[in-house]
Amino acid sequence: MPFLHYKLIILFSVLLIQTKQLNSCSETDLQSLLDFKRGLTDPRHRLSSWTGDDCCSWQGITCNESMPARVVKIDLRNTAGYDNEDDDSWALGGDISPSLLHVNYLSHLDLSFNDFWGLPIPTFFGSFPRLRYLNLSAADFGGTTPSHLGNLSSLYCLDLSYNGDLRIDDSRWIENLKSLEYIDLTYLTFSEKFGKLLESLRMLPSLTELHMSRCTFLDNTFPTFLPHTNFSSLSTLDLSYSNFTSSLPMWIFNITTLEILNLRGSTFQIIIPHVINNTNSLKYLSSNIYVEGGGFPQNLQGLCKLQSLYLSWMNLTGQLSTFQGILKGCSKVTIQNLDLRGNSLTGTIPNSFGNLYSLTYLDISSNSLEGTVTELNFANLKNMKYLDISLNKLSLEISHDWLPPFQLETIGLGSCKLGPKFLQWLQNQFNYFWFDMSYSEIADCIPPWFWDLSENFVNLDLSHNQISTRTMLC
Ligand SMILES: *[C@@H]1O[C@H](CO)[C@@H](O)[C@H](O)[C@H]1NC(C)=O
Ligand SMILES: *[C@@H]1O[C@H](CO)[C@@H](O)[C@H](O)[C@H]1NC(C)=O
Ligand SMILES: *[C@@H]1O[C@H](CO)[C@@H](O)[C@H](O)[C@H]1NC(C)=O
Ligand SMILES: *[C@@H]1O[C@H](CO)[C@@H](O)[C@H](O)[C@H]1NC(C)=O
Ligand SMILES: *[C@@H]1O[C@H](CO)[C@@H](O)[C@H](O)[C@H]1NC(C)=O
Ligand SMILES: *[C@@H]1O[C@H](CO)[C@@H](O)[C@H](O)[C@H]1NC(C)=O
Ligand SMILES: *[C@@H]1O[C@H](CO)[C@@H](O)[C@H](O)[C@H]1NC(C)=O
Ligand SMILES: *[C@@H]1O[C@H](CO)[C@@H](O)[C@H](O)[C@H]1NC(C)=O
Repeated sequence: MPFLHYKLIILFSVLLIQTKQLNSCSETDLQSLLDFKRGLTDPRHRLSSWTGDDCCSWQGITCNESMPARVVKIDLRNTAGYDNEDDDSWALGGDISPSLLHVNYLSHLDLSFNDFWGLPIPTFFGSFPRLRYLNLSAADFGGTTPSHLGNLSSLYCLDLSYNGDLRIDDSRWIENLKSLEYIDLTYLTFSEKFGKLLESLRMLPSLTELHMSRCTFLDNTFPTFLPHTNFSSLSTLDLSYSNFTSSLPMWIFNITTLEILNLRGSTFQIIIPHVINNTNSLKYLSSNIYVEGGGFPQNLQGLCKLQSLYLSWMNLTGQLSTFQGILKGCSKVTIQNLDLRGNSLTGTIPNSFGNLYSLTYLDISSNSLEGTVTELNFANLKNMKYLDISLNKLSLEISHDWLPPFQLETIGLGSCKLGPKFLQWLQNQFNYFWFDMSYSEIADCIPPWFWDLSENFVNLDLSHNQISTRTMLC
């Protein structure tokens, strides 16, 4: 019997030891994290849980499930700074100890929105053997980005965006990041030509997202020719708010995987090629468009998967009806968001607009459209939530008993000729919270149901009509 007792005790202790090991991290990781912590400044004590030897339970630390557990993820993203830009006291700062490198199963490192005082990104960051995700966005790193980062051959995501003082002198290291799928270089400065960067980026076989809004280059001429337009996986290209001095080259439209092309706020002119072939994949186009000879781009034909077209305040001229040309030859309508506000588009709203049944957002306000809008213009728009046709020369002629196919949330009818009677069809709209009916020649009283429906208004403009306060309610 004493013998059995003895065995039980051993079994019990083994279980205890195993449980302990399962919960706590390896000694190596523990020591290097403590070293790392010692170098940091932490005015708000965000790392107050970093005590004891169970580092897997510390704030921001994730371990894998082996024994002993190894740290695989360090997430010190400063979410407080993200919500409240004025208060930077939540930011960690200081020196990043090289002993962090001993956390050698690390695959995810996020230091975004902290404040590393404009110091350079440590060169040893390039030596994490298993790093897959590196986010240093808005962390106030400065100087030159070390080419050592090119050693991170497993890296699939690199975010260096919004480090105002960070510079890339020679981007050739980027081409070694063979696993890279996502790169964000927003707001960085390059002391090389834009073309050089493109040469490196096009060597990345799996690159799907390229964000380079607001970048500054030594020479920001877009190369009109690349020997091989490899970008064979690229689906998002964000070049918004960039100062390019040349036109967008045609080879962009040869990237057959491209779904999102964001050129909003770029200074350069985009001349849409005569017929865009092969760009069937494009779902989102936001851009400064300059159409050769002026007018509305008619040759976006073939963009049968287009879901969003944002072309506001672009000085576009021509007839709105040419928009239909874009969808010519498409078997299915996919357009959901159409923003053409603030241009000089003329003509009427074609009846065929009523067949764009996928439309949820339509803003054609502040143009020079004219003519009469009837039920036919909205016949099948059952998904529409946002409608703004204000500041044109349009008249609405809609019968009193019309039952709209949609439930709108935003209704902009300012400066449309609506009156003299109040709009009866509004009685069947139950969800709208933004309503503009100013300058619309209404000379009527307001029916009580209007106020019943309108508890949620965040914007209500009935001004410049003949709705006298004394007789306001019918
Ligand atoms: C966890 O880390 C150990 C090293 O201690 C490694 O051998 C193992 O493959 C890792 N497990 C996972 C699921 O990543
Ligand atoms: C990096 O972190 C910021 C927030 O700090 C976040 O907005 C961004 O999406 C992250 N980048 C990636 C690629 O996950
Ligand atoms: C990492 O890259 C740098 C510069 O690109 C190079 O000098 C160094 O030898 C590389 N280190 C390793 C461990 O591969
Ligand atoms: C780029 O394209 C060329 C020609 O098609 C090819 O030889 C090369 O291997 C490609 N490079 C990558 C990284 O895909
Ligand atoms: C682009 O040009 C404008 C006007 O010259 C300038 O204010 C802005 O800083 C420039 N932006 C970049 C990213 O170079
Ligand atoms: C686009 O691709 C076609 C067919 O592969 C090729 O002939 C043409 O030269 C390419 N255009 C540009 C601008 O690279
Ligand atoms: C576009 O593709 C069609 C066939 O898919 C071809 O007939 C036409 O010539 C091409 N147009 C241009 C400008 O490349
Ligand atoms: C539109 O025209 C005005 C006046 O000519 C000009 O100042 C503005 O920059 C133009 N906007 C665009 C997006 O081209």
